[in-house]
Amino acid sequence: MSRSLPVVLATALSLFLSACAGLPFARNTPVAGDPHSYANTGAFRTTHLALDLRVDFAQKRLAGSATLDLARVGTGAPELVLDTRELEIQKVEAGLGETWTRTTFRLEPADPILGSALRIALPAQATRVRVHYRTQPGASGLQWLAPAQTADRKYPFLFTQSQAIHARSWIPLQDTPSVRAPYSARIRTPKNLLAVMSADNDTGTARDGDYRFTMPQAIPSYLIALAVGDLEFRATGPRSGVYAERSVVKAAAKEFEDTEKMIARCEAIFGPYRWGRYDLLILPPSFPYGGMENPRLTFASPTVIAGDKSMVSLVAHELAHSWSGNLVTNAAWQDFWLNEGFTNHLTYRVMEEVYGKDRAQQERALGANDLRETLAQTADRRDRSLMPDLRGRDPDDGVTDVPYEKGALFLAYLEAKFGRARFDAFLRKWFDAHAFQSVRTQDFLAFLDRELLSQAGAPVSAAKVNEWVQGDTMPADTVWPASTAFATVDRARDSWLAGKVGAADLGAKRWSPRQWQYFLDTLPTGIDQEALIDLDETYGLTGSRNAVRASRWYRAALANDYSPVYPAIDTYLRKVGRMLLIRPIYKELARTPDGREFALEIFADARKGYHPIAVDAVEKTLAASPAPAAPAARQGPGYSTFVR
Ligand code: BES
Ligand code: ZN
Repeated sequence: MSRSLPVVLATALSLFLSACAGLPFARNTPVAGDPHSYANTGAFRTTHLALDLRVDFAQKRLAGSATLDLARVGTGAPELVLDTRELEIQKVEAGLGETWTRTTFRLEPADPILGSALRIALPAQATRVRVHYRTQPGASGLQWLAPAQTADRKYPFLFTQSQAIHARSWIPLQDTPSVRAPYSARIRTPKNLLAVMSADNDTGTARDGDYRFTMPQAIPSYLIALAVGDLEFRATGPRSGVYAERSVVKAAAKEFEDTEKMIARCEAIFGPYRWGRYDLLILPPSFPYGGMENPRLTFASPTVIAGDKSMVSLVAHELAHSWSGNLVTNAAWQDFWLNEGFTNHLTYRVMEEVYGKDRAQQERALGANDLRETLAQTADRRDRSLMPDLRGRDPDDGVTDVPYEKGALFLAYLEAKFGRARFDAFLRKWFDAHAFQSVRTQDFLAFLDRELLSQAGAPVSAAKVNEWVQGDTMPADTVWPASTAFATVDRARDSWLAGKVGAADLGAKRWSPRQWQYFLDTLPTGIDQEALIDLDETYGLTGSRNAVRASRWYRAALANDYSPVYPAIDTYLRKVGRMLLIRPIYKELARTPDGREFALEIFADARKGYHPIAVDAVEKTLAASPAPAAPAARQGPGYSTFVR
């Protein structure tokens, strides 16, 4: 959407403004550095953001203003370029101290991935800019939920998801993780609802529809987050707690009662937790991710409340981002593994501390299995590197098992070579030395070289590190984690498949949730229908209230053309919107003409309940898997987050 220049007001700055009436706006080209942002960060850096927004559920819009304080880096840049996507810009003011003057702006035509550059003429002395705007009902970073889509079904709900480049769909800003700034916000909502942000939430705040927030630490734009709903709070520790709807909050507090223990363990290994409180927000089931590490307030899918703490590694993961990601941040999306590979390493490390080696090893082995399958399915070799070329691509497409699991295996490799004590200390030093900074992979490699590789007798060469980071195959000396608990499952599964034992004799009642996951993920195709009925009835898999187990079962069942799961899948896909759980089901359905028709029919209706990012992802999944006339050769069973 593009707008004409508004009428320029006569002001004290009229001289300047008339000079820029004929301003030659530069071309719509992303700047070097971060290919996913138009922001001219070589000329300006945001030093503070102040939001003043009204939440309008009837119109599905946020409306108000964003005020950016700016530091001039270079000299003389006549315009500030911000990122936006589908924002309606009403007016822009330039600020000098507390004096505000209307200024000219131009919204460039939209790029389908990057959105529109907002070019603002800025007087030479101006150091502030205020943009008055409103969002579109379909903003990619917002989901507006009707009461029926919430747990308690009484009130509407709104949440944001800014990572990777969706902040620009609800705030005009420099939407690049290479820029960090503190923020403050005033959010006005319907009186009976509570607003929470990735900021200093006051757990005892009066519910009056007028909320103020401060995030004093400098954070990248993708960590700015807001949710509004009928939320309750319950403490789980002195500095931790959960926000959730009334019917969910008790179970959530129980499930995540170990949070303080996790924080303490992380601190002991990686240094102080620098964000004050650590709370969790449990969202309605359409939340498109398992979790999102918004600082001070992790957003989480209700599908992680399994009743048995089987998914608490997700909390460990999002909490670990308080060091890897939020404290030390990838400066561009190409460096995403610095966020997620590090965080997965920390997660496994902390799971081992809190729940023991066996449990941690099961988590590691599942991750490694996912990676193996993803690598096998990733046709483009460059996407098997830890530094994929994402230019011209949506950074959300770089979210595969490669940065997560290959990244974690690389760090585990270094840990094995240098020893745990030394490697823990190295990581702690990395976090301390780069706290509140955004870094590139090159920065890490230089630090690694200085601190470890260049030391006399170092057991790892620079060439080996390069192989891990740049290479498109796994190094030959990769140590693939295996779990004895899974070997038990292998034996049981194989004798069941061979018809030697019935489902009841699998011994599965004693399996851990992770063993179950492994079992379901490694079921082959071509299993006898009678055996599947036996398995399903013995363990109540179809319609399981454990959303993760249900998803894995549906995928395996569909791969075996086991049709009794169809009605339950219908219900499931209309309720759950977590991409990791629904995409594999859509993908498996799309394999056969009947399944595809069924999937399209459900999606046509269910999409109105999905997050815009999930709608996009499911569309891509269905488009990428046209039903073949005859079943094509397929990968073996197994599970992967990379299901494009
Ligand atoms: N930061 C990610 C989620 C994300 C990544 C959102 C990229 C948008 C773009 C979060 O920390 C994450 O990794 N979530 C995982 C859970 C985790 C346990 C692997 C998820 O949602 O599945
Ligand atoms: Zn993560």
